[in-house]
Amino acid sequence: MASEPRQILVTSALPYVNGHIHLGHLVEYLQTDIWVRFQRLRGNDVRFFCADDTHGTATMIRARDEGIEPDVLLAQMSEAHQEDFRAFGVEFDHFGSTHAESNRDLVNEIWAALRAGGHVVERDVTQLFDPEAGVFLADRFVKGECPRCGKDDQYGDNCDNCGATYTPDELGNPKSTLSGSTPENRTAKHLFVRLSDFQDFLDDWTQSDDHVQPEIANWLKGSFLSEPLRDWDISRPAPYFGFEIPDAPGHYFYVWVDAPIGYISATKDWCDEVGESLDHWWRNPDCEIHHFIGKDIAYFHTLFWPAMLQSAGFELPRKVHIHGFLTVNGEKMSKSKGTFINARVYREHLSPDFLRYFYASKLSSAVQDIDLNLEEFTAKVNSDLVGKVVNLASRTARFVEGKALAPYPDDGGLFEAGDAAGEEIAADYEACDYSKAIRTVMALADKANEYVEAKAPWVLRKDPDKADELLEVCTVSLNLFRQITVYLAPVLPGLAQKASALLNAETPRWEDAATPLVGNTVAKFEHLMRRVDPARVEAIVEASQE
Ligand code: 2FM
Ligand code: ZN
Repeated sequence: MASEPRQILVTSALPYVNGHIHLGHLVEYLQTDIWVRFQRLRGNDVRFFCADDTHGTATMIRARDEGIEPDVLLAQMSEAHQEDFRAFGVEFDHFGSTHAESNRDLVNEIWAALRAGGHVVERDVTQLFDPEAGVFLADRFVKGECPRCGKDDQYGDNCDNCGATYTPDELGNPKSTLSGSTPENRTAKHLFVRLSDFQDFLDDWTQSDDHVQPEIANWLKGSFLSEPLRDWDISRPAPYFGFEIPDAPGHYFYVWVDAPIGYISATKDWCDEVGESLDHWWRNPDCEIHHFIGKDIAYFHTLFWPAMLQSAGFELPRKVHIHGFLTVNGEKMSKSKGTFINARVYREHLSPDFLRYFYASKLSSAVQDIDLNLEEFTAKVNSDLVGKVVNLASRTARFVEGKALAPYPDDGGLFEAGDAAGEEIAADYEACDYSKAIRTVMALADKANEYVEAKAPWVLRKDPDKADELLEVCTVSLNLFRQITVYLAPVLPGLAQKASALLNAETPRWEDAATPLVGNTVAKFEHLMRRVDPARVEAIVEASQE
């Protein structure tokens, strides 16, 4: 392990304020939280930031539909999001909002730098406008007939039926999804960032030092960087819910300008709270910045975002970690099938720990989709966590309640083998190869269970002459249990805490897996984890069905 603690700033993508957290979002928040907790266990100096992504037409429309001010919507959703995150054990150092004044200041600062660098150009843009709702329509707010295959009810950017991509003005018989009216073309001034100014820099940054996964580097090279980057349209004419551009009244920053800047402003809010300096986190080459995002927003984070950061003299990310999507039972989440599951619905029925474990057992460093097969979920959690891990304690702790653990006996090399696996497991967590880490830990659990089976403490306890042997066997089993819970602590912090409490030990740190506990008094065994009841899983699907 590195002797000097690393200074690490971590972010998850900012959830849109206009929707609730669902199991698809949680892939990322749990992936990130596990990484953050791992870094903390290793003794690194880590901060984890997030915020609500508040701006854009969708927020404006939703507030209007609900008959409330956007501010009220923002406050309600922030509360709901944070409640879900807390319930799933996702612990941010600060959860901010892109609508915060701190964000406006930072957006203006970065904007001024882009202007000063001569990277801003102006052009007229013709866009569809909804005359009834009085707003310009983003692609997703227009539906009509696909220009290629003629299928109706297709969004303004691509066709579900034939996969064609196009612009909304190519749709046949277009209708606004907001009012149903026929949109008209209107022309307005837009501001653009000339991304090609950053071409060499981005080419270099994306292709070097493992800043992104290799498949993303190749995709960026093949799809974008092989020709001059196109100018990025960063403004929207009024009405728009967002920050007005200071030197272009009546024009607003496009939501994707101020969204990632929310990473910095969330840090700033936290700095102001605790008396730290923002530059120590964002303008310090010794601070590693790690973003976790989904593959759908990779290009915002690997092209626009580094360009903005660089122009304003902020540090660039050490790495952008990109994950795939979630499928449920092998398919896209579906409201009609009841597999579009909100975080709240899930947690009303099942422990968030189960999902933390299941996702960890599936996640790798590749940009791959992961599948939540509900039968596999039930079987895996029950067999691994209840059958293998918790079992080690539940089958032995009661026999030695109130007793002190023995000096660590000969266990045939089990604890030592667990210790020896520690650096490999750590490397897998570090690389986001959680599924591999989990496999290694479960192999240790298998060995530990073989030991307990062979020693049969439930037989030993019947023979008063075997009391010493019983204590030794339980000492081994409980220490192996603790070692395993330390390795699983990034995923299951609550279980690791309970294991510590059972053995009267301190809050776990990674290095605790290297040394067995000796002489600790075993506390009263409290129930550690229930099995997943398949009826609860069915209830979730039922409650999610539209
Ligand atoms: O795709 C999304 O859900 C966006 N709200 C993510 C924003 S991430 C960051 F750039 F703010
Ligand atoms: Zn089509």
